[in-house]
Amino acid sequence: AALKPKARPLNGRHVLITAGPTFEPLDPVRGITNRSSGKQGYAIAAAAADAGARVTLVSGPVSLPTPAGVTRIDVETAAEMHDAVHAALPADVFVGVAAVGDWRAKEIARDKQKKGVDGELTVTLVKNPDILASIGHHPTQRPPLVIGFAAETRNVEVYGQTKLRTKGADAILANDVSKDVFDRDTTNMILIDASGPTAGKHLTKAEVAADLIQYLTTRLK
Ligand code: CTP
Ligand code: CA
Repeated sequence: AALKPKARPLNGRHVLITAGPTFEPLDPVRGITNRSSGKQGYAIAAAAADAGARVTLVSGPVSLPTPAGVTRIDVETAAEMHDAVHAALPADVFVGVAAVGDWRAKEIARDKQKKGVDGELTVTLVKNPDILASIGHHPTQRPPLVIGFAAETRNVEVYGQTKLRTKGADAILANDVSKDVFDRDTTNMILIDASGPTAGKHLTKAEVAADLIQYLTTRLK
Protein backbone atom coordinates (compact mmCIF):
# COMPACT_ATOMS: atom_id res chain seq x y z
CA ALA A 1 0.00 0.00 0.00
CA ALA A 2 1.15 3.54 -0.69
CA LEU A 3 2.40 5.49 2.30
CA LYS A 4 -0.04 8.07 3.57
CA PRO A 5 1.32 11.53 2.67
CA LYS A 6 2.49 13.41 5.73
CA ALA A 7 -0.01 15.92 7.06
CA ARG A 8 1.36 19.43 6.66
CA PRO A 9 -1.30 21.53 8.40
CA LEU A 10 0.93 24.63 8.63
CA ASN A 11 1.91 24.65 4.97
CA GLY A 12 2.43 28.21 3.72
CA ARG A 13 2.41 29.72 7.21
CA HIS A 14 5.25 31.74 8.72
CA VAL A 15 5.84 30.84 12.36
CA LEU A 16 8.13 33.18 14.32
CA ILE A 17 9.56 31.83 17.57
CA THR A 18 11.84 33.16 20.32
CA ALA A 19 13.82 30.65 22.37
CA GLY A 20 16.57 30.31 24.94
CA PRO A 21 17.84 32.83 27.46
CA THR A 22 19.11 36.31 26.81
CA PHE A 23 22.51 37.53 28.00
CA GLU A 24 22.94 41.08 29.24
CA PRO A 25 26.58 42.15 29.55
CA LEU A 26 27.88 43.97 32.63
CA ASP A 27 31.42 44.34 31.33
CA PRO A 28 33.50 42.59 28.61
CA VAL A 29 33.71 39.35 30.59
CA ARG A 30 30.54 39.23 32.73
CA GLY A 31 26.82 39.37 32.34
CA ILE A 32 23.36 38.49 33.65
CA THR A 33 21.39 35.66 32.15
CA ASN A 34 18.32 33.50 32.79
CA ARG A 35 18.11 29.77 33.24
CA SER A 36 16.85 28.31 29.97
CA SER A 37 18.12 25.39 27.93
CA GLY A 38 16.16 26.46 24.85
CA LYS A 39 14.80 22.91 24.51
CA GLN A 40 11.10 23.90 24.54
CA GLY A 41 11.42 26.61 21.89
CA TYR A 42 13.58 24.39 19.69
CA ALA A 43 11.08 21.52 20.02
CA ILE A 44 8.29 23.88 18.88
CA ALA A 45 10.41 25.13 15.97
CA ALA A 46 11.11 21.54 14.88
CA ALA A 47 7.44 20.56 15.16
CA ALA A 48 6.28 23.64 13.22
CA ALA A 49 8.78 22.97 10.42
CA ASP A 50 7.65 19.35 10.39
CA ALA A 51 4.06 20.58 10.02
CA GLY A 52 5.08 22.45 6.87
CA ALA A 53 5.56 25.98 8.24
CA ARG A 54 8.32 28.38 7.29
CA VAL A 55 9.99 28.84 10.66
CA THR A 56 12.12 31.73 11.92
CA LEU A 57 13.76 30.97 15.26
CA VAL A 58 15.27 33.94 17.08
CA SER A 59 17.53 32.34 19.64
CA GLY A 60 19.53 33.43 22.63
CA PRO A 61 22.77 31.58 23.47
CA VAL A 62 22.06 27.83 23.75
CA SER A 63 24.00 24.69 22.91
CA LEU A 64 21.46 23.02 20.65
CA PRO A 65 21.59 22.13 16.96
CA THR A 66 19.32 24.07 14.58
CA PRO A 67 16.30 21.89 13.72
CA ALA A 68 16.03 20.82 10.07
CA GLY A 69 14.32 23.35 7.83
CA VAL A 70 14.45 26.16 10.40
CA THR A 71 15.96 29.61 9.81
CA ARG A 72 17.84 30.54 12.99
CA ILE A 73 18.89 34.05 13.97
CA ASP A 74 21.30 34.19 16.90
CA VAL A 75 21.08 37.08 19.36
CA GLU A 76 22.41 37.83 22.84
CA THR A 77 20.51 40.65 24.47
CA ALA A 78 16.78 41.30 24.84
CA ALA A 79 17.14 44.45 22.73
CA GLU A 80 18.73 42.42 19.92
CA MET A 81 16.00 39.79 20.24
CA HIS A 82 13.32 42.51 20.05
CA ASP A 83 14.85 44.00 16.91
CA ALA A 84 15.36 40.60 15.20
CA VAL A 85 11.75 39.62 15.91
CA HIS A 86 10.35 42.86 14.49
CA ALA A 87 12.62 42.57 11.43
CA ALA A 88 11.21 39.06 10.76
CA LEU A 89 7.57 40.27 10.54
CA PRO A 90 5.09 39.67 9.03
CA ALA A 91 4.21 36.28 10.52
CA ASP A 92 1.07 34.18 10.85
CA VAL A 93 2.03 33.00 14.30
CA PHE A 94 4.32 34.37 17.00
CA VAL A 95 5.38 32.06 19.82
CA GLY A 96 7.41 33.69 22.61
CA VAL A 97 9.23 30.92 24.43
CA ALA A 98 12.44 32.77 25.31
CA ALA A 99 13.38 33.44 28.91
CA VAL A 100 13.95 37.11 28.19
CA GLY A 101 15.99 38.99 30.77
CA ASP A 102 13.70 41.50 32.46
CA TRP A 103 16.55 43.92 33.11
CA ARG A 104 19.87 45.00 31.65
CA ALA A 105 22.70 47.05 33.11
CA LYS A 106 22.04 50.76 32.77
CA GLU A 107 25.67 51.17 31.81
CA ILE A 108 27.98 48.49 30.44
CA ALA A 109 31.53 48.97 31.73
CA ARG A 110 34.00 49.32 28.89
CA ASP A 111 36.75 47.57 30.85
CA LYS A 112 36.69 44.51 33.07
CA GLN A 113 35.64 45.62 36.55
CA LYS A 114 38.20 44.96 39.29
CA LYS A 115 37.17 43.50 42.65
CA GLY A 116 38.76 46.36 44.55
CA VAL A 117 38.85 46.29 48.34
CA ASP A 118 35.36 46.98 49.68
CA GLY A 119 33.80 43.66 48.57
CA GLU A 120 30.54 45.13 47.27
CA LEU A 121 29.39 46.03 43.78
CA THR A 122 26.31 48.06 43.01
CA VAL A 123 24.80 47.73 39.55
CA THR A 124 21.82 49.75 38.35
CA LEU A 125 19.47 47.73 36.16
CA VAL A 126 16.86 49.11 33.78
CA LYS A 127 13.85 47.31 32.32
CA ASN A 128 14.11 45.58 28.95
CA PRO A 129 11.42 45.92 26.25
CA ASP A 130 8.64 43.31 26.50
CA ILE A 131 8.94 41.51 23.17
CA LEU A 132 5.73 39.49 23.49
CA ALA A 133 3.69 42.59 24.42
CA SER A 134 5.22 44.56 21.53
CA ILE A 135 4.00 41.84 19.14
CA GLY A 136 0.64 41.26 20.84
CA HIS A 137 -0.09 45.00 20.72
CA HIS A 138 1.61 45.67 17.35
CA PRO A 139 -0.30 48.55 15.72
CA THR A 140 0.03 47.34 12.09
CA GLN A 141 1.62 43.88 11.90
CA ARG A 142 0.11 41.87 14.74
CA PRO A 143 0.24 38.20 13.70
CA PRO A 144 -3.20 36.50 13.68
CA LEU A 145 -2.03 34.25 16.49
CA VAL A 146 0.19 35.36 19.36
CA ILE A 147 1.24 32.77 21.95
CA GLY A 148 3.23 33.37 25.13
CA PHE A 149 4.74 31.21 27.79
CA ALA A 150 4.83 31.93 31.50
CA ALA A 151 6.99 30.32 34.10
CA GLU A 152 5.54 30.76 37.57
CA THR A 153 6.45 29.45 40.99
CA ARG A 154 2.97 30.22 42.42
CA ASN A 155 -0.54 31.43 41.42
CA VAL A 156 0.05 29.95 37.97
CA GLU A 157 -3.51 30.50 36.67
CA VAL A 158 -3.94 34.03 38.00
CA TYR A 159 -0.59 35.27 36.71
CA GLY A 160 -1.21 33.44 33.42
CA GLN A 161 -4.56 35.22 32.96
CA THR A 162 -2.94 38.57 33.72
CA LYS A 163 -0.17 37.96 31.17
CA LEU A 164 -2.73 36.92 28.54
CA ARG A 165 -4.44 40.30 28.94
CA THR A 166 -1.51 42.67 29.43
CA LYS A 167 0.58 41.21 26.60
CA GLY A 168 -2.27 41.05 24.09
CA ALA A 169 -1.73 37.31 23.56
CA ASP A 170 -4.27 34.80 22.25
CA ALA A 171 -3.02 32.07 24.56
CA ILE A 172 -0.51 31.62 27.35
CA LEU A 173 1.11 28.32 28.14
CA ALA A 174 1.72 28.55 31.85
CA ASN A 175 4.31 26.38 33.42
CA ASP A 176 4.55 25.54 37.11
CA VAL A 177 8.24 25.82 37.91
CA SER A 178 7.87 25.46 41.68
CA LYS A 179 9.52 22.06 41.27
CA ASP A 180 12.81 21.69 39.40
CA VAL A 181 11.83 21.62 35.73
CA PHE A 182 15.03 23.09 34.38
CA ASP A 183 16.89 20.57 32.24
CA ARG A 184 14.19 18.01 33.02
CA ASP A 185 12.18 16.11 30.47
CA THR A 186 8.62 16.81 31.61
CA THR A 187 6.81 19.96 32.60
CA ASN A 188 3.43 20.78 34.19
CA MET A 189 1.61 22.87 31.59
CA ILE A 190 -1.70 24.77 31.60
CA LEU A 191 -3.04 26.47 28.44
CA ILE A 192 -4.97 29.67 29.16
CA ASP A 193 -6.95 31.42 26.45
CA ALA A 194 -10.21 33.39 26.14
CA SER A 195 -12.18 30.27 27.04
CA GLY A 196 -10.25 29.84 30.29
CA PRO A 197 -7.59 27.46 31.57
CA THR A 198 -7.24 23.80 30.67
CA ALA A 199 -6.27 21.32 33.36
CA GLY A 200 -2.55 21.03 34.00
CA LYS A 201 -0.83 18.19 32.22
CA HIS A 202 2.53 16.58 32.77
CA LEU A 203 4.04 16.56 29.32
CA THR A 204 7.42 16.22 27.71
CA LYS A 205 8.64 19.22 25.74
CA ALA A 206 8.00 17.29 22.51
CA GLU A 207 4.40 16.66 23.65
CA VAL A 208 3.91 20.34 24.51
CA ALA A 209 5.16 21.17 20.99
CA ALA A 210 2.84 18.63 19.35
CA ASP A 211 -0.16 19.89 21.36
CA LEU A 212 0.66 23.49 20.41
CA ILE A 213 0.86 22.63 16.68
CA GLN A 214 -2.57 21.02 17.01
CA TYR A 215 -3.89 24.15 18.76
CA LEU A 216 -2.38 26.47 16.11
CA THR A 217 -3.84 24.36 13.30
CA THR A 218 -7.33 24.54 14.80
CA ARG A 219 -7.14 28.26 15.54
CA LEU A 220 -5.81 29.18 12.07
CA LYS A 221 -8.67 27.42 10.26
N1 CTP B 1 8.66 38.09 27.42
C1 CTP B 1 9.13 38.88 26.37
N2 CTP B 1 9.93 39.96 26.64
C2 CTP B 1 10.25 40.27 27.90
C3 CTP B 1 9.78 39.48 28.98
C4 CTP B 1 8.98 38.38 28.70
O1 CTP B 1 8.82 38.57 25.21
N3 CTP B 1 11.03 41.33 28.13
C5 CTP B 1 7.76 36.96 27.10
C6 CTP B 1 8.34 35.58 27.37
O2 CTP B 1 9.03 35.09 26.23
C7 CTP B 1 7.08 34.78 27.68
C8 CTP B 1 6.16 35.79 28.34
O3 CTP B 1 6.63 37.08 27.93
O4 CTP B 1 6.44 34.35 26.50
C9 CTP B 1 6.10 35.73 29.81
O5 CTP B 1 7.39 35.88 30.36
P1 CTP B 1 7.53 36.03 31.93
O6 CTP B 1 8.96 36.22 32.30
O7 CTP B 1 6.77 34.91 32.58
O8 CTP B 1 6.68 37.36 32.16
P2 CTP B 1 7.06 38.83 32.57
O9 CTP B 1 6.11 39.72 31.87
O10 CTP B 1 8.51 39.10 32.36
O11 CTP B 1 6.69 38.89 34.10
P3 CTP B 1 7.49 38.38 35.40
O12 CTP B 1 8.83 37.83 34.97
O13 CTP B 1 7.60 39.59 36.25
O14 CTP B 1 6.59 37.31 35.98
CA1 CA C 1 10.20 37.85 33.15
